[in-house]
Amino acid sequence: MLTASLVLVAALFAAGNVAAKSTKEISPYPLGERSVFSDRATAERIKPVGSVCVEGEECGTAAAAGEEVASGPRSGEEVYNASCGACHASGAAGAPKTGDAGAWAPRIAQGEATLVKHAIEGLNAMPPKGMCMTCSDDEIKAAVEYMVEKSK
Ligand code: HEC
Repeated sequence: MLTASLVLVAALFAAGNVAAKSTKEISPYPLGERSVFSDRATAERIKPVGSVCVEGEECGTAAAAGEEVASGPRSGEEVYNASCGACHASGAAGAPKTGDAGAWAPRIAQGEATLVKHAIEGLNAMPPKGMCMTCSDDEIKAAVEYMVEKSK
């Protein structure tokens, strides 16, 4: 009985040691700043989601660098896959299907300028820019060319 108790006590000690963590591991903040009611936690909760940054200021460099990576026009195929295929691959909403030469011939006959104009401004169930609000006119033009090329 005594041996059993000793073993149990030893086991509890061992478990306690494993579970013991240094306070740094529990929270990186000093004791007074750990509470959810501390000024630190409150400031973190109510901090603004974004911040305005004037061009030329130090804070703007990260955002500018990110933009650089995303800059450069998307290819016609990229725009098509992201914004046009939803309707034009399946013929949804009555869209002329990509690759359907019969459906495209009379449209192509209008001339590319008209097709591009309709793609940018919209035409009946065809939404302006295929709803790609971040697409430039040139990117839409590239997507039209891509679609037309596949539908001749
Ligand atoms: C919500 C569905 C939908 C999306 C998304 C969509 N289209 Fe269309 N598109 C249509 C429909 C419907 C028509 C046929 C409109 C008509 O002739 O009444 C059409 C027609 C067109 C035409 C032929 C216009 C003409 O003058 O005959 C072009 C070019 C075109 N779309 C390009 C695009 C491009 C480029 C995108 C992507 C940036 C795109 N579409 C995205 C539905 C869509």
